[in-house]
Amino acid sequence: MNIILLGYPGSGKGTQAKVLSQKLGLFHVSTGDIFREELAKKSPLGQEVSGYISAGRLVPDRLVLEVLKARLAVETRGLLFDGFPRTVEQAEGLDSWFESRSQAIDSVIFLDVPEAEVAARLGSRRTCTGCGKIYNTISNAPAKENVCDVCGKPLMTREDDKPEVIARRIQVYKDQTEPLLAYYRSSGVFHKVDASRAPEAVAEGLSAMLAGKP
Ligand code: AP5
Ligand code: MG
Repeated sequence: MNIILLGYPGSGKGTQAKVLSQKLGLFHVSTGDIFREELAKKSPLGQEVSGYISAGRLVPDRLVLEVLKARLAVETRGLLFDGFPRTVEQAEGLDSWFESRSQAIDSVIFLDVPEAEVAARLGSRRTCTGCGKIYNTISNAPAKENVCDVCGKPLMTREDDKPEVIARRIQVYKDQTEPLLAYYRSSGVFHKVDASRAPEAVAEGLSAMLAGKP
């Protein structure tokens, strides 16, 4: 099974992808996480994408597609994409990659959240520096301030969660990623889930939808 999660920055793609990939045995593909790992390692790729990420702009399509094709070449599990594709060009690149492997996308799920809510969610996000678990100081705080409940490592604020960068990311989403909704609506595999509910309710909605019982 191959699934794409689409939605605004802060719509809960990462939160839901972590749960769903475990539940379904899928490989979680987050291009944002890949780039942040490379940034942390200060690798040549990390240095190349650094300016785009800190400014809230998209990494060029050619580079994103190159990195993914290399990473996924030997992966045999089903894929759960989070944060990719983000442009029509990336979606076309993914379509031809799947075609070359005689595979297809089974579901494209749009996590529907009002724009007004996402900026507030991003401004209060914290991420574990150890295991990557995603928290929120308002809606999903750790038991001990700034310490991960799971692995005990400190939490951090993402570099691109500053107010001015959040605003840019939201605008970039509207300009470059929203056209993907029309692209996939005509594909017959497009679904929408109300992602403004609590994370557990969203997860239930996703599972019901995938089981064919929306
Ligand atoms: P990326 O890491 O993909 O960021 P994003 O798409 O902007 O999305 P986020 O990770 O910010 O949000 P999310 O939807 O995962 O929400 P989350 O679950 O964390 O990309 C970062 C950058 O990398 C891009 O700007 C770009 O530069 C580059 N990049 C990455 N992929 C690229 C690509 N394909 N092409 C080009 N460039 C690319 O939740 C957010 C917060 O809300 C958390 O605090 C969480 O606890 C909380 N929350 C989650 N669900 C709920 C809920 N139901 N109710 C209340 N709070 C909730
Ligand atoms: Mg994310």
